Amino acid sequence: MTLFEKLRCLLTFGQGVALSLPEISTDTSPSQLFEQWFTDAKKSGILLPEAMSVSSCNADGQPSSRMVLLKNYDEDGFVFFTNYASRKSHELIENDKVALLFHWNVLQRQIRIEGTVEKVSEQESADYFHSRDRGSQIGAWASKQSQKLKYDDELKERMSHYQNKFSKGEVPYPEFWGGWRVKPHAIEFWQGRANRLHDRICFEKQNELWTQHKLHP
Ligand SMILES: Cc1cc2nc3c(=O)[nH]c(=O)nc-3n(C[C@H](O)[C@H](O)[C@H](O)COP(=O)(O)O)c2cc1C
Repeated sequence: MTLFEKLRCLLTFGQGVALSLPEISTDTSPSQLFEQWFTDAKKSGILLPEAMSVSSCNADGQPSSRMVLLKNYDEDGFVFFTNYASRKSHELIENDKVALLFHWNVLQRQIRIEGTVEKVSEQESADYFHSRDRGSQIGAWASKQSQKLKYDDELKERMSHYQNKFSKGEVPYPEFWGGWRVKPHAIEFWQGRANRLHDRICFEKQNELWTQHKLHP
């Protein structure tokens, strides 16, 4: 994105951007469009363009949302990493239905994704785990993510414990930690436009084939 295009986005903020959706041919897959929009988001200088909201539901149907980082995506889905004993993971194990949300405000774009989750392979999780910096690897061992702290210094003490335990050599991969792949069956691309006449293009997967339609804003 050029500086001029960035300024145009900023100057029209609140009224819709002058950028229109790219023409979408009927054989464009949502993953190709996602790739284009994610590339634009990375080029725009937005901090953490890979940040996305993940919504899960507990057994009572109570939804909960939190931010995570998208680490991988392809035709098979969108991958993030977390603790498999966390609240979100418990909910995803109970109910594999999930929703993701990206919002890139300077581009006035939103992407909504609905689908189901599956765990990524242990190899994929271990490979990603070992690509992280050492502090984050030890932090993953120290954090009982989503559990109540028993006392204020508990986390600090657990961090020291694992720093000593893994002071030499490679930090082992913890089996309670890994990736979730969100396999989408519906994706909506939303582009802000003037006068609230926003563009909304939805893709729905039926019998392994994507169909597309537009929605009123
Ligand atoms: C920008 C941002 C990125 C985050 N990325 C992750 C992530 O990739 N994985 C993760 O487990 N938590 C991430 N977190 C923390 C989560 O939002 C959340 O606090 C944590 O996963 C516990 O959620 P849960 O108790 O619902 O399981 C991130 C938070 C923010 C604000």
